[in-house]
Parts: sequence; structure tokens; C-alpha cells
Amino acid sequence: MTSLDRRSALLALARGGCALAALGSGCGGEWRQAVVLDPPPEGAACSGLPPPGTAQEGWVEVRLSDHPALAAPGGHAEVRLPEALLDVVLVHVTPGCFVALWRICTHGDCAVDWLPDEGVAECPCHGSRFAQDGRVLQGPAQRPLTVFTAVRQGESVFIHRPR
Ligand code: FES
Repeated sequence: MTSLDRRSALLALARGGCALAALGSGCGGEWRQAVVLDPPPEGAACSGLPPPGTAQEGWVEVRLSDHPALAAPGGHAEVRLPEALLDVVLVHVTPGCFVALWRICTHGDCAVDWLPDEGVAECPCHGSRFAQDGRVLQGPAQRPLTVFTAVRQGESVFIHRPR
């Protein structure tokens, strides 16, 4: 079964379970969106990442249900959490693997945009471009974007924001 088949099957199962439960007064007649993600495949570059730690250690939880665009590889979302001093673009790069790039351009004070078709971040102010590992691909920026460790666990991605 392909991952898409499995995702479809799980969504269908979730719908069916809700429909059955609705008969017995569960679910309250409302449909909640299910976000079903594949875990990182064996040997994936991200599968060796450590499990996330605590908020006191700088780990910030991003619930995938708050960013449905992240459900599929290739999806991305801008995540701004001022209370955690976090302003990143979170990208689902390969099944179950994510990168979190700082959004503020190192050339100035502009927020970069993620270009999913090219897999790069681009600054709208003067055109600097950055790879998904933060490297400068095109100036005038000279310094790379900071990339934070991002670990998927359950239905959340935890980003490590060192303090
Ligand atoms: S502020 Fe980003 S390229 Fe100048």
C-alpha cells in the first residue's frame, strides 16, 4: 500500500469511526480534520534526530493540526511564536522530515519567502536566496540563515530554539 493509499484509508477509517460514533451520540455531528503523517522512513536523514526535550530546554511545540499545509511532503508554513522568540518557515522536506529556517534575512530586516517549486528561501527586499540548509545561494546576503533542529513526534513538530 502506498503512503497515499494508507493516508486515504486512515482518513476513510476516521470518517467511518466518526459516523459510527455519531449513531451512538459521539462526534457531535461535526467533522474534524485528521492530519495523518508518515513517520520518517528507516535510514532517512532525519531519523537519527534526538527526541525532543522540554520547553525549559528550548523545545517549542508546533501542532500540525494548526498548519494543515505541512501534512504532505513539500508543504510549508510560516510559524511565528513571539512568546518563544520564534519566526521560522517550517518545511516538510521528505516524509516525516522537517526543517525550520529563521525567516529574517541576514542582509537586512526583511522576512524571506519559501519558494516550494525551487526549494529555496528568497528575500523580497534585495533578492538574496538561501538553500534549505540555510546556505547563501545568492547575495547580497553574506551570512547563512539559521536552521533549527525540527523533530516530528506524534502530531506535532518540535523545534529546538536554543536560549
Ligand atoms: S534584506 Fe534580504 S536581501 Fe536585503
